[in-house]
Amino acid sequence: MTKITAAITAIGGYVPDYVLSNQELEKMVPTTADWIESRTGIKERRILKGEGLGTSDMCVKAIEELLKKRGISALDIDLVIVGTVTPDHVFPSTSNIVCNKIGAKNAWGYDISAACSGFVFSLATGAQFIETGKCKKVIVVGADKMSAIIDYQDRSTCIIFGDGAGAVLLEPNTEGFGIIDSILHADGSGAQYLHQKAGGSVKPPTHATIDAKEHYVYQEGQTVFKQAVVGMAEVSAKIMEQNKLTSGDIAWLVPHQANKRIIDATANRMGLTLEKVMLNIQKYGNTTAGTIPLCLWDYEKQLKKGDNIIISTFGAGFTWGSVYLKWAYNS
Ligand code: UT7
Repeated sequence: MTKITAAITAIGGYVPDYVLSNQELEKMVPTTADWIESRTGIKERRILKGEGLGTSDMCVKAIEELLKKRGISALDIDLVIVGTVTPDHVFPSTSNIVCNKIGAKNAWGYDISAACSGFVFSLATGAQFIETGKCKKVIVVGADKMSAIIDYQDRSTCIIFGDGAGAVLLEPNTEGFGIIDSILHADGSGAQYLHQKAGGSVKPPTHATIDAKEHYVYQEGQTVFKQAVVGMAEVSAKIMEQNKLTSGDIAWLVPHQANKRIIDATANRMGLTLEKVMLNIQKYGNTTAGTIPLCLWDYEKQLKKGDNIIISTFGAGFTWGSVYLKWAYNS
């Protein structure tokens, strides 16, 4: 029987118009534009402004672009998976809301919560539905409105995060293109270093949790940094080894955009020069589940059919992993 792989056949992306620059942050918290850029690589990030707008609205924009590019209707979609930690609501899922907004009446869907690894975990999951033959068209979205859970008085977190969404379409391929391999990890002992303290079932919202600012992102930056460097570099090297790939075989590394120094360390461990590394952290910051599909969106025109691509991620949980795929089309 011919092996079916799940190939990315279209990409859409969306970042809000509002640009929050390092210079503007200098006026909000005790920091400098130079500190931010030299410690993270970030120059600016996008913020979703407007009453009543949430993560689903960014997903919709990204998906609408994808559908248009592929020339298909929302009615053709079987499944929509949304990787996010900033869902519109605790329930129902953002995927349900997105399907309704785009008119995907034949689709079902759900959200995956894996923080910055949300897109990669969703991609690996979505691919299974294609590989088994259960679905023909799966949309995988990585999207976060991080500005909804960031304390803009906390200089250690507000400089890093931004808002954005990226979406890919997965379709069956029988010529060996698409997702070839994935290695995924989760270690809940890392939860204490990066999380949102209140708002869940353990600590429901009260006046006290709001006064204590427990609905914002809490991060012990240095610990997360150290784990991310090791986690992303090791898993990327492992997937190369597992698939007998040398650095010369790889066309692109698509790393999670959390900190330019983490990206550099990963590329270095893989023996890759920076020309092969997708980078957009300077303009969007860390959009959590959005970073990787937004990189693919930005670099789509440079991708060629047959390119070997390694995707690599690390996020809260801790969650981390890598995906190896062969690009399936020329733009
Ligand atoms: O995407 C999910 C995973 N998240 C990540 O991968 C993030 C990983 N962590 C990081 O990227 C970095 O740890 C940060 C960018 C968050 C912080 O950079 P750092 O080089 O690790 O700084 P630090 O926390 O070690 O702090 C060094 C100094 C401290 O001052 P003292 O104690 O040395 O006097 C901080 O108070 O820098 C200070 N600092 C700042 N100074 C100016 C912290 N934030 C700022 C700031 N501006 N925004």
